[in-house]
Amino acid sequence: MSAVFQEQRSGRRVALLTVCILLVRLASANYEKAVSALTVVESVNGDEEAHVDDEVDSEDVEVFQPTSQWQTLRPGQAVPAGSHVRLNLQTGHREAKLDEEVLKYWSDGKRQGIVNTKASSFTTEELKKALKKFKEEGVESLHQDSQKEAELKSQFRPLEELKKDMAQLDLMVETDFQVMSRLVAQLNRSVATVEERVAALLDLEYLVHQVDNARDLVSMGGMKLVIDTLNGTHLQLQESAAFVLGSAVSSNPQVQVSAVEAGALQMLVTLLATDRPISVKKKVLFAISSLLRNFPFAQSHFLKLGGVQALGDLFRAPGSEGLRVRMVTLLYDMIVEKELVSQAGLDTIPDSTHQERLRQYNQVSLLPLLAEQGWCGLVPQLLLTPEHDWREKALRTLLAMSSHCGLAYRQDPGLGHALSALRQQYQELALSEEGLAEEDWYFREILELLDSALLKIH
Ligand SMILES: *[C@@H]1O[C@H](CO)[C@@H](O)[C@H](O)[C@H]1NC(C)=O
Ligand SMILES: *[C@@H]1O[C@H](CO)[C@@H](O)[C@H](O)[C@H]1NC(C)=O
Repeated sequence: MSAVFQEQRSGRRVALLTVCILLVRLASANYEKAVSALTVVESVNGDEEAHVDDEVDSEDVEVFQPTSQWQTLRPGQAVPAGSHVRLNLQTGHREAKLDEEVLKYWSDGKRQGIVNTKASSFTTEELKKALKKFKEEGVESLHQDSQKEAELKSQFRPLEELKKDMAQLDLMVETDFQVMSRLVAQLNRSVATVEERVAALLDLEYLVHQVDNARDLVSMGGMKLVIDTLNGTHLQLQESAAFVLGSAVSSNPQVQVSAVEAGALQMLVTLLATDRPISVKKKVLFAISSLLRNFPFAQSHFLKLGGVQALGDLFRAPGSEGLRVRMVTLLYDMIVEKELVSQAGLDTIPDSTHQERLRQYNQVSLLPLLAEQGWCGLVPQLLLTPEHDWREKALRTLLAMSSHCGLAYRQDPGLGHALSALRQQYQELALSEEGLAEEDWYFREILELLDSALLKIH
C-alpha cells in the first residue's frame, strides 16, 4: 500500500518536473526552483523510500527514459508520469515502459499539468487542447488530498501562477486571426518604419494563402490598408502590398470581389503603367493575374481601364524581358478561360449560372483588342528566346489568337522564317525522344504546335 502511494508520489513529482522543464523552456524561469528541490531516492534492496533532498539540482535527477518495451529500472531512477510501472516477480526488479497514450493530464491539489510522454515538446494543437481542457475543468475537478500530499503542495505553484503561465502559453499559441490582427495593427501604426511594415506585409502574405485568413483580412479592414499601401509612394511597400494582394485573391472568389470593389484593379493598372522597377512590376503582374483569373467582371473592367495597353507598353519596355512570358501567360489564360466556358455550354444542359457566366465572358472582348494593340506582332517575339517552355507558351498563344491575327501573321515575313527554323530544330530534338513513352514527348508536342502555326500563316 505504501509502496503504491510512494510510487504515485514520485511519479507525480517527476510529472511536475517534466512539465516544469517544458514550461521553463516555453514561458518562465520560475519553475526551476520548485523543481530543483525534488528528487527521488530509492534504497538498493528495493524497499522504496522517497524523500525530498533540498540540495540536489534538477540536472542531477536521473530520469528513466521509457520506451515501448519493458525496461528494468535502476535504483534511484525517476519515472516520468505516464509510464507503466510493474514489479517483475521473478527478478524482484521494477520495470517500466511508455504508456500508449502520448498526452497525460495530471492534477494534484491545485496543480494541473500535461506531460508529453513521447516527445520533448508539444505541438501547437496539443497545447491548445491542453489549455482548453484546463479551462473547462477549472478547479471543479480538484480532489481531496491526503495530508502528505498537502505537505508536498506547499512546494508546488499556486493555481494563479499556473494560470499566468498558461496565459503566456496562450499568447504563444495565438490563432491566425490574432496574428493577423497584430500584423494589421503594425501596418497601421503611424510611427511604424518601412522595415516594420514590409515585415508585417510579408508575414500577412504567408497567412492569406489560407482562404479563411484572406477573408478575415478583408473583414478586419486589412485589405483596405493593403490597397492604401499600394497607393503610397514607397516602392518596397508597394511591392510587398501587391504580393499580399495577389496571394489573398488567389483562388478566392469572395476576396477577389472585395478587392475589386475596394479599387485594387485601378491601382494595379496605374502601377503597371507608371515607371516602376521591374521587381515591383513583377508582383503587380502577379496580383493582376490572380485577380483576373476566373473573374470575367474584373477582366472586362481591366480592359476598360486600359490594362491591355499598359501590358503592351511594358512588353516593349527594355528590361522587361523576364516578365514577357508572364504577360503572355496572363493573356493566354484569359483567352482559354472564355473558350472553355463557351464550349462547356455545348455538351451540358446549361443552367442559369452558366448562362450568367457566359454573358459575363461575352463582355470580355479581348481578342479584337489584342489585334488592335499589336499583340499579333508581340507574342511571336517570345519565340526568339532560348527557353523551350517560353516558346511553347508563345506558340499556344499565337494559335489561340489566330482567328484575329491571321492577316498580321501572314504579313510578318520574320514569323514564317522563325517558325521554319524552329521546326527544323525541334525535328532533331524530337528524334532524341525516340523510344520514350508518348506522355514523355515534349519536343514532339512543340513540333506539332509549330506545324499548326505554319499552317495558319500559309
Ligand atoms: C488604422 O488606424 C486608424 C486611426 O488610428 C483607425 O481609425 C483604423 O480603424 C485603423 N485601421 C485598422 C484596419 O485597424
Ligand atoms: C490614392 O491616393 C490619392 C492621393 O495620394 C488619393 O487622391 C486617392 O483617392 C487614393 N486612391 C484610393 C483608391 O485610395
